[in-house]
Amino acid sequence: MNALARPELAAVGVACTVNGRPVRLLTEPHRRLTEALRLELGLAGTKVGCDAGDCGACTVHLDGRQVCGCLVPVGQLEGRAVTTVEGLARDPRLARLRTAFVRAGAAQCGICTPGMLMAAAELMTTSTVPDRGAVEDTIGGVLCRCTGYTAIVDAVLDAFGEEVEQAPQPAAGAAVGARVVKLDGAAKVDGRERYGADHAPPDALWLRVVRSPHAHARVTLGDFGPLKRRHPGLVRVLTHADVPGANAFGIMAAMRDQPVLAPGIVRHRGEPVLALVGDAATLEAITTDDLPLTFEPLPAVDFEAARQGEAPDLHPARPGNVLTVGRVRSGDLEEVPADAIAVTGTMRTAFVEHAYIEPEAGWAGRVGDRLEIHASTQAPYMDRDETAHVLGLAPEQVRVVPTACGGGFGGKLDLSVQPLLALAAWLTGRPVRTVWSRVESMAASTKRHPSVAEATLWVAPDGSFEGLRYRGDFDTGAYASWGPTVAGRVPVHCTGPYRMPRVEALARAVHTNGPPSGAFRGFGVPQALLLTEGLIDDAATRLGRDPLELRLQNALRNGDRTATGQRLESSVGQIACLEALQPAWRRLRADAQARNADPGPLRAGVGIASVWYGCGNTGLSNPSSQRVTLHADGRLTFWNGVQDIGQGSATIMPQILADALGLPIGALTTTTADTDHTDDCGKTSASRQTFVSGRATQLAGEDLRAQVLRLANAGPDARLSIEAARLHVRDGDHERVIELASLPRLDGYDGSVVLEGRGRFDPPTTGLDAHGQGSPYAAYGFGAQIAAVTVDTGLGTVNVEHIEAAYDVGRAVNPQQIEGQIMGGIAQGLGLALMEAYEPGRTENLHDYLVPTFGDMPNVAFHLIEEADPLGPFGAKGVGEHALIPTAPAILNAIADAVGVRPDRVPVLPHRLFEALEARGMTR
Ligand code: FES
Repeated sequence: MNALARPELAAVGVACTVNGRPVRLLTEPHRRLTEALRLELGLAGTKVGCDAGDCGACTVHLDGRQVCGCLVPVGQLEGRAVTTVEGLARDPRLARLRTAFVRAGAAQCGICTPGMLMAAAELMTTSTVPDRGAVEDTIGGVLCRCTGYTAIVDAVLDAFGEEVEQAPQPAAGAAVGARVVKLDGAAKVDGRERYGADHAPPDALWLRVVRSPHAHARVTLGDFGPLKRRHPGLVRVLTHADVPGANAFGIMAAMRDQPVLAPGIVRHRGEPVLALVGDAATLEAITTDDLPLTFEPLPAVDFEAARQGEAPDLHPARPGNVLTVGRVRSGDLEEVPADAIAVTGTMRTAFVEHAYIEPEAGWAGRVGDRLEIHASTQAPYMDRDETAHVLGLAPEQVRVVPTACGGGFGGKLDLSVQPLLALAAWLTGRPVRTVWSRVESMAASTKRHPSVAEATLWVAPDGSFEGLRYRGDFDTGAYASWGPTVAGRVPVHCTGPYRMPRVEALARAVHTNGPPSGAFRGFGVPQALLLTEGLIDDAATRLGRDPLELRLQNALRNGDRTATGQRLESSVGQIACLEALQPAWRRLRADAQARNADPGPLRAGVGIASVWYGCGNTGLSNPSSQRVTLHADGRLTFWNGVQDIGQGSATIMPQILADALGLPIGALTTTTADTDHTDDCGKTSASRQTFVSGRATQLAGEDLRAQVLRLANAGPDARLSIEAARLHVRDGDHERVIELASLPRLDGYDGSVVLEGRGRFDPPTTGLDAHGQGSPYAAYGFGAQIAAVTVDTGLGTVNVEHIEAAYDVGRAVNPQQIEGQIMGGIAQGLGLALMEAYEPGRTENLHDYLVPTFGDMPNVAFHLIEEADPLGPFGAKGVGEHALIPTAPAILNAIADAVGVRPDRVPVLPHRLFEALEARGMTR
């Protein structure tokens, strides 16, 4: 029973129906419907993203109309009918809606999917065939951070069309390149998918984190004895003194600096100070005033003071608050030809919140001298190792079983709930669960680095790029997190995908009392290219050149060297991407010109920006290992260590494996990431999984296939099939049948495995020297986007009407998943450009922090270029972060094209653009 339910209500309760079944809810009348559904009735298909009616993830039907379940008190349910996604899943009339969602790729991480389906289901029962606007109006109250919405609207419209059927699975050898629908899609649309908050043992205690309300303060802890006596349900109060190992974790072993619980000093708002462990009602009853805890606020170090070296050091070992400096130097800017023009600019960016719809959640339990952690994450093995370090255990004593991940985008690469849950479970010996609220998720999680940068680009009169000087400071907040990665990646990428003979690039990660800045889709490259791509347009204007043609002239080609001295032998698809965009560029520019003949306040503009992005870690070892086993009974098990956070690896890896084996996808049974059972595939970050783990997967498949061919004495082109416990190998006219049960068993499994294929891939890279010279990535993806916008000069608002995107993805293993990544990246890039700015203490919820909704999304068209990479699986490269990076610079270039004012700060909020227009007398 729900810990928040009151048994004394049993005689009365609240009588209603849920999914057609009469129930009597015992949850207290003032509680939320979502609490009753999830905790009392165990209907976890209804998700909770904000508890404030902002995200719509909890949308259910009340008497047939959609409502936010988090806003409906249980006391209002008497005699009423509630329908959840579990009820919808049993409704045959709505089967086509679910099928359409899977078929259209409308569910990526899937956390918003139940809410979307419930909203759409209302439309299906109240309308005939709707138009796109009607669909958007009906489901517009539900936020999605992954898909960019288009696939969702497509799916709903599709459900009104002809009978919706799933496409058949591709035949053996034809999986790579096919639009295979998500293999885990069905669970996402029928409410079965389990995220971090959706499950825990029934006897689990709850954990509540007490956080600092100050950005910088001294903390004094008092005597907790009286508190425990007043609240018998409080099982344990955890402080920094309870941490048995090292009270410090981090991304890099040499930079572990983030405490599990603050030891006397807090360095950012939201930092954990205490963890209270007990039953839910007790934890809820304890107020802040009950706690023997005092904060003595200290002056907070802000970005400007830190970057000017005018603030006291927050970490003694990091003088001047400089965490790390990244550099690239090649050529000599003194030798830039005298006739080159110089264009100079600055760019300032804000904290950006990941705003994944699933707040951090999970549970941990002690199993003898081991711990199990079930939580939402992007990095199971790193979670294991860092949690073990904190507890003073060997890594093998910790098992991490990732739950489904309701969005990450880099924000679930860092530890969050894991060490706190582990500590509580270890010390109490009981399972312990926690679910962070939206506010604490936003206060405590990492952010995109705010930045201040200045740069100069030199361009010869003929348009050749002659050199770039770039200097950027990145606010890495209170702790290191991914600051070194950002500072290292930015100088490599700040040139954009262009020939640049002379480069002096420097990026610093600087500590402040802000939230720790971490990984967010692009690791600083979006901030850097906002500036460089603007300078290229300024140069084009000065030289009277077409911006796309200028980029084409300077784009990297096969055989070119980058500013780090790395020679790119092949798979450089930048030219092809830009050429693919030329027709749209001409059409959109002509259209804008025609519209601007109208002297009204609306001004049209078109902008373009490019991207390149190294797949994987920067100059570091970056391995993945994969395994596949063949069993005596004919089963084929794929031990897939890649954590799918919505990007589609649960489908893409089997596609690669199936073709490497020469068997259909349907022959595979997949076990997904679990540190006790799958090998280490590293983190789901840096656009590395398709490239690195995909290659490891291909090698594993090829390894097993080679063993089979040897057993059958067959040639490389032999065709395989498995029928029950027989493996058929057909080589030309000959067929060999292997009785699998007759083969010896392999050690290390349950006695059923007869053959095992293994693959390991570590991309060949080199570290960067003191001048940033080396080969930091084994593969680069390329791309470009055009943005067409309208600026309302009377309001300062910007409407992005169209995005045309072209990407070199090496080989499109699954075009549908790639398009989903591009759409989602464009939505987040649009947010970066126009609306998203996190301010600690002010925008810690989803009504003050704005993310793009249905109505913000432009029309989008794609061009996929396939310049096969020699190392990638079947030639594939990553695309996850590439998708976001050029959107914001393309939009800013389009704004400048429309009104002649170049924004030097994002987001370009209406009041800022209006002021800039007003200063130039351009408002109408
Ligand atoms: Fe919508 Fe992830 S699929 S939030």
